[in-house]
Amino acid sequence: MARATRTARTAPRKDGRSRTTVAQPPRPTAPESRSRDVSRLYATKNDLAEETRVEVITLLNQRLAESIDLQTQCKQAHWNVKGPAFIGLHKLFDDVNEDVEGYVDLIAERIVQLGGIAEGTVGAAEGRSSLPDYPLALSTGAEHVAALSDALAAFGRAARIGIEEMNELKDAGSADLLTEVSRGVDKWLWFVEAHQQGS
Ligand SMILES: [Fe+2]
Repeated sequence: MARATRTARTAPRKDGRSRTTVAQPPRPTAPESRSRDVSRLYATKNDLAEETRVEVITLLNQRLAESIDLQTQCKQAHWNVKGPAFIGLHKLFDDVNEDVEGYVDLIAERIVQLGGIAEGTVGAAEGRSSLPDYPLALSTGAEHVAALSDALAAFGRAARIGIEEMNELKDAGSADLLTEVSRGVDKWLWFVEAHQQGS
């Protein structure tokens, strides 16, 4: 997400004189200000090998980015859906959002438990998520059902890949956590997709 750099500009005044606003220093941006150094671990008595924890933290930060992305997409659908099925879909999309918020928290806190830094800002998540971008101009229930089911399916796939990765790294706790997330997102995919089925 590119931030506009603030510069001094001159604003016209009623008396014809000009007023110069004070230039604001540009905010620091990536990469210097963002913690990308996941190899820096906090000390913990957790007995998973350090090299395992470094790999798990990196992979879980990827899943964290995707879960944050998914959460914003649920709200986008919740706010903007229109049409005869409005009230049902408006409430459904918020129910999905609520559970996805829980997945975000589970993944982030697992990262921290392993001595890592949960990189959970929108800025950090941007560009790291593998989910498709949510189209901004959708309106009908069918359009939002199609877009959100795409997002849920993509996240479900990412969660399943994550389970395999955690199993390979022999981190049963993280594999179990992602299994819980995967089971939940599969349920919500069913709830959303059912609106496209049965006709
Ligand atoms: Fe709301």
